[in-house]
Amino acid sequence: MSDFDHYVVFGNPVEHSQSPRIHALFAEQTNDPIRYEKLFVPLGEFKKSVMKFIDAGGRGANVTVPFKVDAFEFATTHSQRAQYAQAVNTLTFRDGQIFADNTDGVGLVNDITRNLGFSVTGKSVLVVGSGGATRGVLLPIVQERPREIVVINRTAAKANELVKALAQQAESHSVRIDSGGLDAVGEASFDLVVNATSSSLTDDAFPVSTKVLANGALAYDMMYGKQETSFTRWAEMANAARVSDGLGMLVEQAAESFYLWRGKRPDAKGVIEVLRGE
Ligand code: ATR
Repeated sequence: MSDFDHYVVFGNPVEHSQSPRIHALFAEQTNDPIRYEKLFVPLGEFKKSVMKFIDAGGRGANVTVPFKVDAFEFATTHSQRAQYAQAVNTLTFRDGQIFADNTDGVGLVNDITRNLGFSVTGKSVLVVGSGGATRGVLLPIVQERPREIVVINRTAAKANELVKALAQQAESHSVRIDSGGLDAVGEASFDLVVNATSSSLTDDAFPVSTKVLANGALAYDMMYGKQETSFTRWAEMANAARVSDGLGMLVEQAAESFYLWRGKRPDAKGVIEVLRGE
């Protein structure tokens, strides 16, 4: 028997994943005896790989592209935020059960509110994009009780579908929600603009007018990389009051996974600083 509790990140590709580094830094802080590794999963072998890992005594896992929906379907118990997202990034193996959660949204919200000191409550929020990344974060944003959330997307129907599924939650939190195509916002401007498109990855120009940035707005890119993204360039050129990439979100979603597994909250801010310095 190993003295370490074993965790992995399942993905394909997975080589680029920063999760082992982040969890090693958390474990150093909390003195937890964990081992965390990358696990490359061939396409079509997700369930097999998870079962093998559980049989070997694995305690929990993160899940990344393209297995987040497979993980949702395979799990036996789901958190509310996982239910809405229909995709999960965190699995916990306990008492013969597979617990599924999605920590991306809380990671985004914690980075914005705690690390950037920007309160979302009562504000207007524009989310651009309507793929898996958006689905993973909308419910936790609603739970912060902004005044309104507008979701726009190149393919309007996808934005409309995400917002429709959120209607009940939005109503119970007194949040106005709306959706449409990329030009659906007209002359409106927003306190927080979140890029959840993959346009940064392809370096396409960000496809929205800079008029959407209200005075004092925070422009937040869920992507992050060593270089500026097309979105952060767009926001800087428009003199957004604040611009952030998604490194803090990456660390905060990991911190929430660590908390689910270990019951301890690591200091994410310290880890963000370490990674920025590298
Ligand atoms: P992810 O899991 O990162 O969300 P995805 O599900 O493939 O990835 O979604 C990508 C999102 O980026 C979609 O909202 C996509 O718009 P469409 O739904 O119309 O495809 C958006 N996107 C990607 N490239 C874009 C571009 N060049 N301009 C505008 N939107 C783009």
